[in-house]
Amino acid sequence: MDSVANVSERSERTAGRASASEPMVPVRDDLQALRGYHSAQVDVEVRLNTNESPYPPPARWEDELAAALAAIDWRRYPDRAATALRSAIAEWHGVATANVFAANGSNEVLQTLLLTYAGPGRTVVTFEPTYQLHSHIARLTGAAVVEGERRADFTLDVDVAERLVAEARPAVTFLCSPNNPTGLVEDPSTVRQLLSAATGLVVVDEAYAQFADWSALDLVSDDVPLAVVRTFSKTWSMAAARLGYLIGPTWLVEALQEVVLPYHLDAVKQVAGRLALDYVDEMDARVKLVVAERERVSEELGRMPVDVFPSGANFVLFRPRHLPGHDVWQGLVDRGVLVRDCSRWSRLDGCLRVTVGTPEEDDRFLGALRDVLDTVPA
Ligand SMILES: Cc1ncc(COP(=O)(O)O)c(C=O)c1O
Repeated sequence: MDSVANVSERSERTAGRASASEPMVPVRDDLQALRGYHSAQVDVEVRLNTNESPYPPPARWEDELAAALAAIDWRRYPDRAATALRSAIAEWHGVATANVFAANGSNEVLQTLLLTYAGPGRTVVTFEPTYQLHSHIARLTGAAVVEGERRADFTLDVDVAERLVAEARPAVTFLCSPNNPTGLVEDPSTVRQLLSAATGLVVVDEAYAQFADWSALDLVSDDVPLAVVRTFSKTWSMAAARLGYLIGPTWLVEALQEVVLPYHLDAVKQVAGRLALDYVDEMDARVKLVVAERERVSEELGRMPVDVFPSGANFVLFRPRHLPGHDVWQGLVDRGVLVRDCSRWSRLDGCLRVTVGTPEEDDRFLGALRDVLDTVPA
C-alpha cells in the first residue's frame, strides 16, 4: 500500500513538469545562480586547453604501477592516512609527514580547506582574475566572497590588497602563483606582506610552481597560517590519477584530516603518487623542456599582432589585437587546434590561453594562429 501511495504522489509531482530536466526538488537557495566550472572539450588533433603535460609519465613508472596494482588487497580499505605517500611527498620537500595533506586533485585539497575554514558567516578573498574554483568552491561552502582586483596588466597592487584584507577580515585569502589564467608569478614580497596583514589563512595555489623560479614553500612553518597547494596533474603527467596535496602547518593538516571523508584517497592513487616520486629527475627534465618551449612560444607570439602576458607556468595568455578573441578561438578550432577561450570571462576580455605542448603541437598552434590572424590586414 505504502509503495502505491508513494508512486501516485510522485506522478502528481511529475505531472506539471515541462521536461525531464526540470527539477523536482530545488537546490539550495544560495546555489540557484551558481554555474559549474567547465572547459569545452572539442574533438581536435591538438588539445592545448587544460594545461596538462604534453609528455606521458615514464614507461618504467607505468610498469612499476602495474606490478604494484597486482599486489593491492582489494578487499581492504586503503591506508586512511595515506602515510607512505605523504611521507614520500614530505621527504621530497624536506618537511615532516605531519605537514602534508593529500587529496583527489588539488581541487579536493581546496575544497577541504574551504569546508574547514570558510562556510556561512565567513569571508574569502580572491584577487581577480584568478583560478575560478577558488571563489566557486568558497561560495559552495556558503562563504561570502570578496573579489579584489588586479591591475590591467594582472599584477597585484599589494597596498590595495592589504587594505582589502584589513577591511574584509577574511578567514581565507587566496593567491595563485603562477596565476591561472594569467601566468604571472607573484612577487615574494606580496606573499610576505599579505601574510603579515591577513586575519586568517593565506593559501597559495602553486599548481604550476615547478615551471616558475619562486615558491612560497620556504615560508611554511607551524607558526605561520600559510598553506601551499600543489598537484600531480601538471608536471607529473598524472592528471588522470587526480592527486594533489598541500604543505602547511601541523595544526592545519590535523584539522583537514578531521573534515575530509574517511578513505577518500584510494589505494591506486596512493601507490601511483608514491612511485612517481622516484622519478623526480625525469620530471625536472620535462619541466625544463616545457619551460624552453614556453619561452619559444612567447617569443613567436611576440612577433604577431597579439598582446602576450609574461608566464611562469606551462601556458601563455595572449590577446589578439585586431580580431575578437572568440573568432580567433573558432579559427584555431577549425584548423584542428583547441586553446582555452577566456575571451568572454570577466576582466579577460578578448584573451585566449594556450597550454605549452610538444614542439610539434606548438608549431601547429603557431602556424594556425598566424593563418587566422592573417585574415585581417595588419
Ligand atoms: C591554479 C590551479 N589550481 C588547481 C587546479 C586543479 O588541479 P587538480 O587537477 O590537481 O585538481 C588547477 C587545474 O587546472 C589550476 O589551474
